[in-house]
Amino acid sequence: MGSSLEVILPLTALAYLSGTWLGAISVCRWAGRPDPRLSGSCNPGFSNVLRQHGVPLALATLAIDALKSWPVLLLGLWLELPPWGLGLVGLGVLLGHCYPAWYRFRGGKAVASAFGVMLLLTPGVALVSAVIWALLAWWAHTAAVASLTSATLAPLLSLWLAPDFVWVVLVFAGLVVARHAINIGRLRQGKEPHL
Ligand code: G3P
Repeated sequence: MGSSLEVILPLTALAYLSGTWLGAISVCRWAGRPDPRLSGSCNPGFSNVLRQHGVPLALATLAIDALKSWPVLLLGLWLELPPWGLGLVGLGVLLGHCYPAWYRFRGGKAVASAFGVMLLLTPGVALVSAVIWALLAWWAHTAAVASLTSATLAPLLSLWLAPDFVWVVLVFAGLVVARHAINIGRLRQGKEPHL
């Protein structure tokens, strides 16, 4: 029953909907601050909110984006979905975050969302990746360098720490890297903003 597509597909649709809740937009609206899509990198995510509005709003953004997947994922875990089913549900959240229908399919880069999903499915990979992210952000003062490196290393970490989810982490990493295409261009030109 748990592995049935009849269960997994509706949960994935629900996951997409939860992913479309963009923490950055809500937090800035609640705090009476300008829409994060209008300034800085224009990305509705943790790093742009940090640069534009400071630590408290950035942490609130991170909390929403990381935790928004948990209700539907916990339901999937309770239903004892297999790794591929849980991975599909997690991917639904990331797709909702990156391509939200309500915002003309223009969303974020899925770093915090992927972290939240992995914290439940592959906690070891999530925590080691978060430490790598923090160290690189501190060293390079550039969020994209931290995100791209963490995303690249995460599938390798999962080979060791979460072998059942290697393909899931690989797909997540591919999506995160693809969503950083503009950052990669800016990094090449030396124009990427610092944290
Ligand atoms: O978490 C997203 C980060 O890697 C890049 O965001 O705003 O610097 O383009 P931003």
